[in-house]
Amino acid sequence: MIYITGDTHGDYTRFTNDAFPLQMTLTKNDYVIICGDFGIWDNSKIENHNFDFLESRPFTTLFIDGNHENYDLLGRFPVSEWHGGDVQFIRPSVIHLMRGNLYDIDGKSFFVMGGAACHDIQDGILDPKKKDYHRKKARLNRHGRIYYRVKGISWWEQEMPSDEEYDKAIETLDNCGWSVDYVLTHCAPDFIVEGVFRIAEHNRLTGFLGEIGRKCEYKNWFFGHYHRDLKVGDKFYLLYNQIIPLPE
Ligand SMILES: [Fe+2]
Repeated sequence: MIYITGDTHGDYTRFTNDAFPLQMTLTKNDYVIICGDFGIWDNSKIENHNFDFLESRPFTTLFIDGNHENYDLLGRFPVSEWHGGDVQFIRPSVIHLMRGNLYDIDGKSFFVMGGAACHDIQDGILDPKKKDYHRKKARLNRHGRIYYRVKGISWWEQEMPSDEEYDKAIETLDNCGWSVDYVLTHCAPDFIVEGVFRIAEHNRLTGFLGEIGRKCEYKNWFFGHYHRDLKVGDKFYLLYNQIIPLPE
């Protein structure tokens, strides 16, 4: 079985036995996929029980990355191959599915393109390596402007894909003839962000996903990021707290 859910932000209580009793019927050959903002955030969470808790679950956890991940930490895990694509093993059964890859899982193909632009940074991004960092931060705090993030501490530029990751995505889709079973992303394609949610958030990634949405064949597309559970049309699922079985 394959289940899918939305952003966890390092809080895995939805996977306790009480919250997700169906897991009692699952094995490590069954999967729960998290659509980004998984919660790799600080060293303590890598060292401590959070990922060990996931490892202790009877299923295998797969996650794509979102905008709220510590990419410096994530980058420390070696890249290996799993089910046809590149992955990073955080634990033996806690696995990062990487941008631009296609995986064969239980005979179904999943195209993955994680990442998103933070939308809670109206007050800017501060760089602790810059001389005026403390002065700028104090001024923002003094004026109650709390929607800022700090580079390398609460914001990473790798939240958005690199040129190489966009190229890899195109190459992967070229190789499979732009036809997959499922698409997994953190943010949504532009025609949903702007056309359905009416959010003025056009960026390179939402535009790129829009192109994929128009050109590629897929049965369903799952994404997170907007912190709601909502089915959009016939094909699209915005996921947050719900854990849903993969539609047949
Ligand atoms: Fe999130």
